[in-house]
Amino acid sequence: MSRPAMSRRRFLTLAGIAGVGLCTCGGLGAWGLSSPRAAFSQPSCGGEGTLGEWVLIAYASKCGSTAEVAEAIGQTLCAAGAAVDVRRVQEVRDLTPYRAVVVGTAIRMGEPLGEAVSFAKKHQAALAGLPTAVFSLGTAMIHDTPENRATAAGYLQPLTELVRPVSTGLFAGKVDPAKMEPIWRFMMSFVKEGEMAPGDHRDWDAIRAWATELNAALAGA
Ligand SMILES: Cc1cc2nc3c(=O)[nH]c(=O)nc-3n(C[C@H](O)[C@H](O)[C@H](O)COP(=O)(O)O)c2cc1C
Repeated sequence: MSRPAMSRRRFLTLAGIAGVGLCTCGGLGAWGLSSPRAAFSQPSCGGEGTLGEWVLIAYASKCGSTAEVAEAIGQTLCAAGAAVDVRRVQEVRDLTPYRAVVVGTAIRMGEPLGEAVSFAKKHQAALAGLPTAVFSLGTAMIHDTPENRATAAGYLQPLTELVRPVSTGLFAGKVDPAKMEPIWRFMMSFVKEGEMAPGDHRDWDAIRAWATELNAALAGA
């Protein structure tokens, strides 16, 4: 017997009612104790970046797709000659080594991840003196329309009002039930179509194009 399809709005409403809005991917990540790491997450590339010359890409991710996008943006900047450091927001202690900062986050329940907002609050004074950019991944951007851009930009507001970005990347994300807690996997089994339908909706050409422009925007800011 096939299950009825569930709209994204209804899915998010039920999720909120169920009180599981904070639970996301499987394992410890469900409790915020761990989050996926980009493979390329160490002081990374671009050769001999010295103090104050690195670009930091700090990301918040639950299921790993934002981490992979952070890595791709880092590789694009590296290829353009920048010295780039890709790190989870929780790992960043000090912004002294950086000449620019890019903050990326997954969108959950219409908001950036809490750790991305905490990062921006904690480093707000330092960020005010650096060129910054932000990017987000969410299903709202599966169809790139002016209305969906406005929705996705609204989701990012708790972050953008803290960091005043020179550039904002709004990207479609990935919904991967296999990586979710059983309760989410069960709920996702009702979603057959629409914005919350499982799938990898990331547009890598759009992501790399934004990163290419970002290099110039950060240098000129
Ligand atoms: C529980 C849950 C809630 C979500 N809520 C939203 C949302 O409100 N708006 C949106 O655009 N995307 C939403 N998404 C989609 C994710 O932001 C998207 O899949 C993203 O790529 C996940 O990033 P991550 O793999 O780094 O965690 C949601 C996904 C899940 C699993």
